[in-house]
Amino acid sequence: MHNSRDTHVTIDPAILYFGTPVVLVSSTNPDGTPNLAPMSSAWWLGRSCMLGFGARSHTPANIQRTGECVLSLPSVHQVAAVNKLARTTGSDPVPPHKVAMGYRHEADKFAAAGLTPVASELVAPPRVLECPVHLEATLEAVHPLAVRDPDRRGGLVAFELRIVRVHVSDSIRMAGHDDRIDPELWRPLIMSFQHFFGLGERVHDSTLARIPESAYRPKRAAAPAPEQLSIRPTVYVRETAGALS
Ligand SMILES: Cc1cc2nc3c(=O)[nH]c(=O)nc-3n(C[C@H](O)[C@H](O)[C@H](O)COP(=O)(O)O)c2cc1C
Repeated sequence: MHNSRDTHVTIDPAILYFGTPVVLVSSTNPDGTPNLAPMSSAWWLGRSCMLGFGARSHTPANIQRTGECVLSLPSVHQVAAVNKLARTTGSDPVPPHKVAMGYRHEADKFAAAGLTPVASELVAPPRVLECPVHLEATLEAVHPLAVRDPDRRGGLVAFELRIVRVHVSDSIRMAGHDDRIDPELWRPLIMSFQHFFGLGERVHDSTLARIPESAYRPKRAAAPAPEQLSIRPTVYVRETAGALS
């Protein structure tokens, strides 16, 4: 086994934000107005999406109460608008831990960022017109994070969403394909260790890309019945409803 002491050192970072796409999450406030929050602890698998939130934020409470949200994905061209939303919250009053980090309450975040709300088709929260990708979503499950970490438990929550409708700007569609996004044209805004980046150029031939995207489309007949699932879900939405309120 190679000894790594000459090449790597052990460190203890407070955060591990290695670089993920920025998402603007729209949700509905108790008074029916929309809230809009930037976040970046997000990943997708198939048509499912996992989002990680501070458990006491306004957005996860809205999503858990209403069961829906919209994810608008900014490109690098919307970075200034995204930055205007930094350190704002829909919470009023602003909770003490956010006061300490310089947050202020903002009732109309679309106006604060200069972004345009546009009606969604299947859910109530509006999409962000300026973003090239809009994902309408419903809440499937809520998963508390770090429950066995005495320093962090209670502070973080992950939401599993089902993406129920996808809208994209024509400018990022792959020529000759109805349902594909061209990765050469899609320029996501990336947050890495609290700073904004874009993607660089393609760096290498990809073996995985030789699999046609159509191979990932599910075939309903091949899916197991719910009672045949080998991995059982741990936390359902209906079991945790109200846990954040
Ligand atoms: C670029 C960016 C990325 C962020 N990523 C996250 C994140 O992944 N999870 C999270 O809980 N907050 C994240 N935040 C902080 C939230 O925006 C902040 O908690 C905000 O108050 C949420 O709005 P709300 O309180 O109205 O829900 C991020 C902020 C910025 C500017």
